[in-house]
Amino acid sequence: MTNQANATGESEALELAGKHLVLGLTGGIACYKAAELCRALIKAGATVQVVMTEAAAQFITPVTMQALSGRPVYTSQWDSREPNTMAHINLSREADALVIAPCSADFMAKLLHGRADDLLSLMCLARPIGKVALLVAPAMNREMYAHPATQRNFVQLEADGATVLGVGNGFQACGETGDGRMLEPEQLLEDIIAFFAPKVLAGQQVLITAGPTYEAIDPVRGITNLSSGKMGFAIARAAREAGAEVTLVAGPVSLPTPRGVTRADVKSALNMLEAVMERAQTATIFIATAAVADWRPAAPSAHKIKKDGSGQAPQLEFSENVDILATLAQSAAAQAGALFCVGFAAESHDLLENAQAKRLRKKVPLLVGNIGPDTFGQDYNALLLLDERGSTELPRASKLVLARRLVQEIATRMGARTPAQLSTSGKVSAS
Ligand code: CTP
Repeated sequence: MTNQANATGESEALELAGKHLVLGLTGGIACYKAAELCRALIKAGATVQVVMTEAAAQFITPVTMQALSGRPVYTSQWDSREPNTMAHINLSREADALVIAPCSADFMAKLLHGRADDLLSLMCLARPIGKVALLVAPAMNREMYAHPATQRNFVQLEADGATVLGVGNGFQACGETGDGRMLEPEQLLEDIIAFFAPKVLAGQQVLITAGPTYEAIDPVRGITNLSSGKMGFAIARAAREAGAEVTLVAGPVSLPTPRGVTRADVKSALNMLEAVMERAQTATIFIATAAVADWRPAAPSAHKIKKDGSGQAPQLEFSENVDILATLAQSAAAQAGALFCVGFAAESHDLLENAQAKRLRKKVPLLVGNIGPDTFGQDYNALLLLDERGSTELPRASKLVLARRLVQEIATRMGARTPAQLSTSGKVSAS
């Protein structure tokens, strides 16, 4: 039985389509990044209404923000463009969220006290808390950030229903280095998209392997493969968006860590096995996307192997690597239904037959098949999901779009498990 899972045919995600955001700028040098953020939000499908404080207008002009957002910018509660003169009510009612980026230390303190002496703070206070979210992206000098008053304010802001996005670490405009920089626009975009995503994996602990492994022959050579890790990283991002705690065990790849994901870098299959087993105890979902080497040189040389002039290539002996997925799929936790295992199969031909056979051999409830040579290193893929009921196609789309659909499919299957299965816990051990 084959069915098409929510095939919409789109290849790119417009994650914020239909969302209307108020982007509030307060006084800080990070206002220059708000211009980029505004573009990124619009590119992701949102409509953006910019509101600036007087101090923000010292750093970037309303003209720039108007040009980028395509809407007149509001800076004053006395704005006569609003027929009822109530810009704070009108603008806050039509928004899905107010995003304050940058949010200065002073503006945070103001929010805490419920002060409302300019349009932006007035809007924050006047917004219907249950309907219109408030996200703040702090930006300040490291000493200001570390000050107990600021730290206290973060806690209280969260308690009052705001979502405080993190801060970056690094060189600051004042010449000092430390915590307090505003997050980069692409990081803020990732967090805002995650904020709106349905939390279908809330409470789940997801462990993911990704990328290739590298099996050393000697200190300068080794055996690896063409896996880029992109699918696994996209799934890590999608799972975090869906509310899970995510740990990513990554082979040698040069990809940025998705926001909010814990990452452990490993090299060889043995390293990967060790890293996975250390973390498997607390996992509730295991997703094996890594292209783990099947064999490793049995006795890697401690020194570089030199040509000996005989014209003969060195003879290499190989040992088989432990199958990480099969080990976890046959663990007590998985058998008891406390660990849901998802495998991947990268095939070159006869996808359905090969993937079906692999699912049974590895004893996983869900196996995801794809054609390896068509997808290695690419941003697009097409997936074939196999479980005990049959197969489901996820047609060609970007890896991130597919990852989000896969997360949804996993959540549906986990939801279908019986309460008895969900409450049972087992121990995971390497066999
Ligand atoms: N896998 C694993 N540990 C290994 C080998 C594979 O965890 N030592 C996992 C992969 O991450 C993937 C699945 O098993 O989820 C299938 O991997 P694949 O390389 O396609 O399968 P193999 O078992 O190696 O079978 P073959 O190479 O014969 O197709």
